[in-house]
Amino acid sequence: MKCYFRLFLKKLFLFIIICNSIFNVVTGTVPPAHDWIPNEMILDRTEIPKNILLGVTIGGWSHLRHILTIANILTDRGYNVTLTKRGNFTQSQQYPKIKFISLGEKLDLSKDLEIKHLVNEKVDTGRFKAVFKNHYAAYESIFLKLKEVAETIKPDLFFCDTLNNEPCFDVAWLMKKPLVGISTTLLGLTHVPYRSDPIFGCKVNMENESFWERFRCEFITPFQFLWSYKSSFENFNKIRANYGLPSLKTPTERWQNSLFLIDSFFGFETPISLPPLYQEIGPVLPDYFPPLTPDVEKFLNSHKRTMFVALGSYLFLSAENNAKLLQSIIEVIENNIVDGVIWANIEKYRESFPSSITLSDGRIISTSNIFDNKNPNIFMTSFAPQFSILNHTNTKIFLSHSGSGSIYESLYAGTPILALPITYDQPGNAEKLESAGVALTLDKTNLDVNDIVNKVERILNDEQIQISTKRLKTLAMINSKRKYRAADLIEFTLYSSVLKQKNTIDESDNNVEKWLFKELITPDTRMGLIRGKYLDVYTAALAIIVSIILLSIFIIKNLIFGKLFKIKKSKDKND
Ligand SMILES: *[C@@H]1O[C@H](CO)[C@@H](O)[C@H](O)[C@H]1NC(C)=O
Ligand SMILES: *[C@@H]1O[C@H](CO)[C@@H](O)[C@H](O)[C@H]1NC(C)=O
Ligand SMILES: *[C@@H]1O[C@H](CO)[C@@H](O)[C@H](O)[C@H]1NC(C)=O
Ligand SMILES: *[C@@H]1O[C@H](CO)[C@@H](O)[C@H](O)[C@H]1NC(C)=O
Repeated sequence: MKCYFRLFLKKLFLFIIICNSIFNVVTGTVPPAHDWIPNEMILDRTEIPKNILLGVTIGGWSHLRHILTIANILTDRGYNVTLTKRGNFTQSQQYPKIKFISLGEKLDLSKDLEIKHLVNEKVDTGRFKAVFKNHYAAYESIFLKLKEVAETIKPDLFFCDTLNNEPCFDVAWLMKKPLVGISTTLLGLTHVPYRSDPIFGCKVNMENESFWERFRCEFITPFQFLWSYKSSFENFNKIRANYGLPSLKTPTERWQNSLFLIDSFFGFETPISLPPLYQEIGPVLPDYFPPLTPDVEKFLNSHKRTMFVALGSYLFLSAENNAKLLQSIIEVIENNIVDGVIWANIEKYRESFPSSITLSDGRIISTSNIFDNKNPNIFMTSFAPQFSILNHTNTKIFLSHSGSGSIYESLYAGTPILALPITYDQPGNAEKLESAGVALTLDKTNLDVNDIVNKVERILNDEQIQISTKRLKTLAMINSKRKYRAADLIEFTLYSSVLKQKNTIDESDNNVEKWLFKELITPDTRMGLIRGKYLDVYTAALAIIVSIILLSIFIIKNLIFGKLFKIKKSKDKND
């Protein structure tokens, strides 16, 4: 009896401990004693200036995801945010407090021959020459428009996307306002030798590459790449000189001492050590997503193993590849590998599909029936609430171009990916996904129906892929909270700029960034190459070690020779 009572007490005690720990974890606000006072962070924002200008040049809505999500947090905190971008767009429902201003005509990529080449061919660094030329040719008009907008808005801070965005950096510099950059990639920001990119015809992670491959990717291809933009870059500097802008040696020179927010996360990104000026804050995902439309929901609920196909709104596939993809989609369903496919955003390319598709077994299927949604297992839609589809339990696989926005949504929702990268950052993203174990990759220059069918089957059945997907889902979820940190850092930069204005004593330092971001700038950048890298100290240490070794050799040699000599001498004497 006593024994039972003790057991009961023990169980009760355990129960209390467990309840207590769960309660603490969930709420986290239980005071240790009843009269303890909570510590609430109340930031005094009265002195912080409130006007922020966002600068983005290219890309569709998906390229605005990170910058607008962070800006939305800032508008909630009372900041006035204006987004400037090329193209004709209307006020967004999702971001009602952000003001939009157009910087002129949107680029029509489908007419750009160079983009067409990038879309259809293998990477060829030489081809970038023309891409850079077109890009820098557009500089002047955007710069002038942005300058005009900025002069009326008078922003206190510029928040610029790094991608092709020289006008934003230059206008910030001209107006002597702080600049915070945001980028989905570390490429071009910081250099580590074991990291490269398919854009240079190399691997993202050079870990297991041969000596020659590492040499080629460290020295040869980057120089080819630099060479391909050299002439247009010189021209670009000439145009800038007309507006009193100092000549830049490299495209990244302007932001050397500024804060950069990196919308990525280790787990997806190859791990490297980052300087404090580059803060990893991704994956940035919005708080709200459009819900499933009734027709998509109905389709998903009646197809337990659905594949979602979306290749972005920005780049496109060749007609031949579109036909192969459609054939693969029909065959994965016919082979019962999946039971349904939703293909988004393809209606507008309907013209580029053949009127019929011949399957591997010789049967002929009419394309127009599929586009008119007459096949009960294939659903074509021009609007797709992507995250809600990926997040649905019946969506088992995502065939994606592996743009960063789509990838983050898929990782967060825990849906494995079949990547069909087209160009720019996409091949690199696909490689990172594959090495994280959550994806397989298709080759746009050698698309093969059997290969697609096999890979879909492998992704659905491979236990390793399912485990890695869960792992990355958790990492994506916990890291997605860092968007608030991104907003905090922008607030601090604004506050720091006010304090700088008050700080009139320190006149000697006219480089604003060096003051604004002084907590983040590592001392080695001020120490020069030799002292910064401690080359002087290491050289001295090496000299000392070498001297000691030489001296030891000398002494040992003398000792041995001396002894031998003595022995010889005494031998001679004896003789
Ligand atoms: C924000 O913008 C509104 C309207 O454009 C203006 O009335 C308000 O004063 C601005 N607030 C700040 C803090 O600049
Ligand atoms: C934007 O497009 C709408 C219609 O799509 C048109 O009415 C409007 O004039 C355009 N605005 C600009 C600035 O081109
Ligand atoms: C390189 O090889 C090692 C050892 O086999 C392996 O652990 C690592 O994942 C490989 N790295 C890449 C990027 O393939
Ligand atoms: C995603 O799915 C989970 C689990 O099914 C659900 O709790 C969550 O609300 C979903 N999120 C969205 C935005 O649909």
